[in-house]
Amino acid sequence: MLKKLNSYDDLITMKKSSDKKRKQDKVKVSICMTGCRALGAEEVYAEFSKQIKKQKLQNKVEVVETGCQGLCARAPVMTIDPPDAPSIFYGRVTVDIVPDVISDTILKGEVIKKLCYAEAGKKIPYLEDIPFYSKQNKIVLRNCGIIDPNSIEQYIENKGYDAFAKALFELDPEKIISVITSAGLRGRGGAGFPTGLKWGFCRKAQGDTKYLICNADEGDPGAFMDRAILEGDPHAVIEGMLIAARAIGSEKGFVYVRAEYPIAVNHLRNAISQARKLNLLGNNILGSGFNFDLEIKMGAGAFVCGEETALIASIEGKRGMPRPRPPFPANSGLWNMPTNINNVETLANVPIIIAEGATWYKQLGTKNGAGTKIFALAGKVKNTGLVEVPMGTTLREIVFDIGGGVPGRHGFKAAQMGGPSGGCVPEEHLDLPIDYESVKDVGAIMGSGGLIVMDNETSMVDISKYFMEFVQEESCGKCVPCRVGTKKMLDKLIKITKGEGTRGDVEDLKEMAHVTQTASLCGLGQTAPNPVLSTIRYFMNEYEALIK
Ligand SMILES: Cc1cc2nc3c(=O)[nH]c(=O)nc-3n(C[C@H](O)[C@H](O)[C@H](O)COP(=O)(O)O)c2cc1C
Ligand code: SF4
Ligand code: FES
Repeated sequence: MLKKLNSYDDLITMKKSSDKKRKQDKVKVSICMTGCRALGAEEVYAEFSKQIKKQKLQNKVEVVETGCQGLCARAPVMTIDPPDAPSIFYGRVTVDIVPDVISDTILKGEVIKKLCYAEAGKKIPYLEDIPFYSKQNKIVLRNCGIIDPNSIEQYIENKGYDAFAKALFELDPEKIISVITSAGLRGRGGAGFPTGLKWGFCRKAQGDTKYLICNADEGDPGAFMDRAILEGDPHAVIEGMLIAARAIGSEKGFVYVRAEYPIAVNHLRNAISQARKLNLLGNNILGSGFNFDLEIKMGAGAFVCGEETALIASIEGKRGMPRPRPPFPANSGLWNMPTNINNVETLANVPIIIAEGATWYKQLGTKNGAGTKIFALAGKVKNTGLVEVPMGTTLREIVFDIGGGVPGRHGFKAAQMGGPSGGCVPEEHLDLPIDYESVKDVGAIMGSGGLIVMDNETSMVDISKYFMEFVQEESCGKCVPCRVGTKKMLDKLIKITKGEGTRGDVEDLKEMAHVTQTASLCGLGQTAPNPVLSTIRYFMNEYEALIK
């Protein structure tokens, strides 16, 4: 039973008592129960629970359902943490091997080799020795894959809601904004706009009612960072929203999440209800007089609804179509009230910045990009999954050291970064330290963090056709340059890939790209030509080879 917390002291008492409860000499078995479900995690979990009961091991073993543990390529995955010994990582766990895991690993401490991660033929049993993990720096994902996302107690044990309590009782709103500003946090939703500055605009805007929106639309193909955060650590987002709400002066927040993310919605709903029971959401939070509550709004999954004015229209119950700016949402957003919109990952960064301070945060990353970035590593790479690295890490480190390189005989060709608004980074730029500006300089964008690796077998003209197909289908049709431009560019790309291209087609593509970029109303049309332009820039020979 969750009991109401009526003060800062109540929160500290709860943290201390949960700490005590869990300081037992149990082996902790953490099973990813989110994306890994697709490959049988539920069955493995059920078998574990059954066996633990049958063998009367409840006092010795604790089985925890977690969110994504990162190395999704090895799904279903689990970690085993014996007290005072390093974590063992197992992948491709099957139901029939569960009794062996219990008898050999849990009871005798022996490693089952066939479940271990392998590199160059060598088995690596301990998580800390696996380069995929040891080369990352999990700041935002620190709880993801570690705690049970459905347990507010576990979140609180891991310093959860401490930062919010600090922001509520020790900092005034201006001070919160100044910490976030001097930390150098920039929006992780794509554009990289300074978060503190954005909060300041909304705080200063005229209006008694202000809204806070968390953008969890995540429409980029290949991206699943935001989904993983919501599934694996929903309280981090709620805590980030509470801090943001106090900073801008809002009492009402919305999380706009696509209906295709049922586990994320479920975990978030549960987390909101737990936070309400504990008096961390609602009226007079922790007895402070501060009020804030949250509502989930489900979207149908249209890419354009991630654009902030379209998202606002969608929450208002209208068709999700962008409108011209100004007025900016900070002045006139949801129901014409001042509104602040932030991405999931941006908000999940907030508690750690408040807890550890701006100076600490700024040390991670580059001059223009503080902190870390989460990438969804996909495509032709051995260790597909969720990766968090400091800004300034090179693409080579992500793809080869963490990702384990390109499998098979075919070497690395390019990495597509930033989804439909992004571009391809070729081999010659593998050593580029990644941050917002450096990536833009080479024709891609950081975007929300989708990173698709392509090998030498991949046709870059096909890639640009794929993204054009996507944006053409997702264009809302409100303005002519985007509606017609994406269609014409797609027709041209189809013609070229069919081998029916003629001289002048690439020049036509460039011209149409220019018009679409400059004359479209919203970011969808303005950035839609980017994948085409970047493949023309680096892989012109492939276009020429297809054109007679
Ligand atoms: C077509 C389009 C789609 C977008 N999709 C998303 C999205 O899925 N998630 C997101 O956070 N931001 C998305 N954005 C950016 C948002 O409009 C907005 O800038 C962002 O949510 C602001 O949060 P941030 O400052 O924390 O990055 C999209 C923008 C455009 C133009
Ligand atoms: S640029 Fe495209 S998506 Fe954006 S408003 Fe115009 S038609 Fe709609
Ligand atoms: S979804 Fe299970 S490890 Fe990523």
